[in-house]
Amino acid sequence: MSRTTLSRYLIEQTRSHNTPADLRFLVEVVARACKAISHAVSKGALGGVLGSTDTENVQGEVQKKLDVMSNEILLEANEWGGTLAGMASEEMDKPYQIPGRYPKGAYLLLFDPLDGSSNIDVNVSVGTIFSVLRCPGDCFSQNDALGEEAFLQPGTKQVAAGYAVYGPQTMLILTLGDGVKGFTLDRELGSFVLTHENMNVPQSTAEFAINMSNQRHWEPPVQRYVSELLAGEEGPLGKNYNMRWIASMVADVHRILTRGGIFMYPRDAREPDKPGKLRLMYEANPMSFIIEQAGGMATNGQQRILDVQPKSLHERVAVFLGSKEEVERVTGYHQG
Ligand code: AHG
Ligand code: MN
Ligand code: MN
Ligand code: MN
Repeated sequence: MSRTTLSRYLIEQTRSHNTPADLRFLVEVVARACKAISHAVSKGALGGVLGSTDTENVQGEVQKKLDVMSNEILLEANEWGGTLAGMASEEMDKPYQIPGRYPKGAYLLLFDPLDGSSNIDVNVSVGTIFSVLRCPGDCFSQNDALGEEAFLQPGTKQVAAGYAVYGPQTMLILTLGDGVKGFTLDRELGSFVLTHENMNVPQSTAEFAINMSNQRHWEPPVQRYVSELLAGEEGPLGKNYNMRWIASMVADVHRILTRGGIFMYPRDAREPDKPGKLRLMYEANPMSFIIEQAGGMATNGQQRILDVQPKSLHERVAVFLGSKEEVERVTGYHQG
């Protein structure tokens, strides 16, 4: 039996679901960039890629060398292909304009080039997250600079989303709105090979992920929910829960996609004007699309994340995602 590579999967999607050729090409190029990032990550100290730069991104985070390198790899890989009207990234204040020497295309690409930056220097899994939107109207045919407004579409408008996780294996997880597929990088072939046909998040779970060190800053519904999880068998939920926190969203979400669980990054009373730490457009939206496509659920406590109308490129959002039963419960505590 020959193995299904990412290229073959995408060609078959065109036959069965009319996936447009330009979208197919776009996804392949993103996957190629992820291979290059995987390669850089795996060199570690030998490649001189560890450590920080002396610059900060728009969120005031000190950029790691790999944050900047990964961003450049993604920009360079994607700017020339003619499928994009523009790109946006965690590491860039403003949208990236496709250079005038290249044709523009119908899509917008958003990414978190390197997720879990704090884990790079300690050799723990990191990743890349991406989201693809259509450029509204005829914005790709205009010569004017592409503004932020073109990107401000709710997550329901995503046509593709995925992430790469650079762990013991490099994997690419992808949704085109028709379920979730997992590909493993075969380093000898140099290709992503379909290894996880239909990824599904179990409806119920006994595992949660949250940064417990922020407990004193959480709002009452989250305080209540987590205290019930910690109460175990004797508490109102009647079962013992286990906890994991990797501090790379990609790795935490990947665990949940594989064996269930709930991931939470709630609002924080320290920064009342910033709902949560995670960014809506290139972290929460693509992950929510994947989780929903895998039968899970994703909310900000009040509403479905994919329905949130973004107001700015780098806006933040509270995140509760994973196994339906638990996300429903904590969302209910917020609403009631
Ligand atoms: P990034 O490295 O892209 O800035 O994202 C970091 C995020 C996310 O990956 C992770 O879930 C979270 O920050 C970890 O936050 P804590 O530092 O509070 O653990
Ligand atoms: Mn960051
Ligand atoms: Mn991130
Ligand atoms: Mn990042």
